[in-house]
Amino acid sequence: MSVIRSVVRGVGSYLPATLVTNADLASRVDTSDEWIVQRTGIRERHIAAEGEMTSDLGREAALRALADAGLEPGDIDLIVLATSTPDQTFPATAATIQAQLGITQGAAFDLQAVCSGFVFALSTADAHLRTGMFKRALVIGAETFSRILDWTDRGTCVLFGDGAGAVVLEAVAVDAAGGRGVLTSHLRTDGRHRSKLFVDGGPSSTQTVGHLRMEGREVFRHAVGMITDVIEDAFAASGESAETIDWFVPHQANRRIIDASAQKLQIAPGKVVTTVDRHGNTSAASIPLALDVARKDGRIKDDDLVLLEAMGGGFTWASALVRW
Ligand code: UT7
Repeated sequence: MSVIRSVVRGVGSYLPATLVTNADLASRVDTSDEWIVQRTGIRERHIAAEGEMTSDLGREAALRALADAGLEPGDIDLIVLATSTPDQTFPATAATIQAQLGITQGAAFDLQAVCSGFVFALSTADAHLRTGMFKRALVIGAETFSRILDWTDRGTCVLFGDGAGAVVLEAVAVDAAGGRGVLTSHLRTDGRHRSKLFVDGGPSSTQTVGHLRMEGREVFRHAVGMITDVIEDAFAASGESAETIDWFVPHQANRRIIDASAQKLQIAPGKVVTTVDRHGNTSAASIPLALDVARKDGRIKDDDLVLLEAMGGGFTWASALVRW
C-alpha cells in the first residue's frame, strides 16, 4: 500500500565565522574550560558577527539544503522557521528569508518552541505536506542566542551558540511499510514549567528584548525523563526500537543529558550524534546542524532510520522518527 509521506530531499547548515572558545569566555566571566567541559561537554561555539541576523544564518542554511536537494528556491511552497530569536517582532523572519530567496508562492511562517522548535517545525510541515496543502517545504532552525544572553551570567552565557540548519521535505507517495520519510512525530508542552527557562522581556510585557534566564539544575532534573517519555511514544507508534534505529540525533544542550538519555533508552553509544562540543546549545538550530554534520561525514545514509528528540523552554519536548 502506498501513502503520502514527507521525504527528506536535502540538508544544509551554516555557522557564523567567529569561534569563541571556553578560554575566551574565561577571560570575560568567572569560569574555566575545565568546568564547562566537565558539566556540559562544550568546548567552543560560533557567534554571529555584528549585523549578521537570524535571517542571514537561516537563508544560508536553506540555500545549502536546496543545493543538496538539487532544487531551486522556486520549487518551495512552504517555509517553516523555528526560532526564538527573530530579526524583528514581526514580520516573521521566515517571510524575510522567503523574500531573500525570491519565493513568491505558498506560505512562510515562524514557529516558536525554543529548543524543541525544529522538531515542532518538522512535524508541522509534515502535517501540511501530507494533507496535500503544499508540495515542498523548507524546515529551518536558526538562532542568534548570543543576542539574548546576559554576558555577565556565567550560569548561562557559556552554554549557547549561534547557527542554523535546514532540511527540504517533499510530499512523495511511498510504500507504507519500510518507505522513506517522516514516520511519526510527538509534541508535548507543559506551561507550568515556563518560569524555569524564559526570557525576561517581550513586546507585550516590558517592551524590551530581555535576557535568557534559566534554573539550570531544574531543567536538567526534568530533561531526561521528558526526553525518554516522548521517545517511547515514537517507538510505540511506529513499532521501531532502540535496536532498529540507525542514528540518534538529539537536541544538543548538554553532553550529560544526551548520554543519560541514550543510556536510559539503551541506545548504543556508537549511534549517538553529538556536536555540542563544537556548537554549544544552538536551540532550534542544533538538530539540523547535527543532521548536516552526520549526513556530510557519511554516517547518515539513504534509508537509515533517524531518531530526533528535543526539550526546552515552556517546557516543550518532542520526538520524531525519519527514514532518510
Ligand atoms: O536546551 C534546553 C535547555 N537547557 C538545558 O538543557 C540545560 C540544563 N542544565 C544544565 O545543563 C546544567 O544544569 C548546567 C550546565 C546549566 C549547570 O550544571 P550543574 O551541574 O547543574 O551545575 P549547578 O547549576 O548545580 O552549579 C554548580 C556550581 C555552582 O556553584 P556552587 O553553588 O556549587 O558553589 C555554580 O555557581 O557551579 C557554579 N557555576 C559555574 N562555575 C564555573 C555555574 N556556572 C558556572 C560556570 N563556571 N560557567
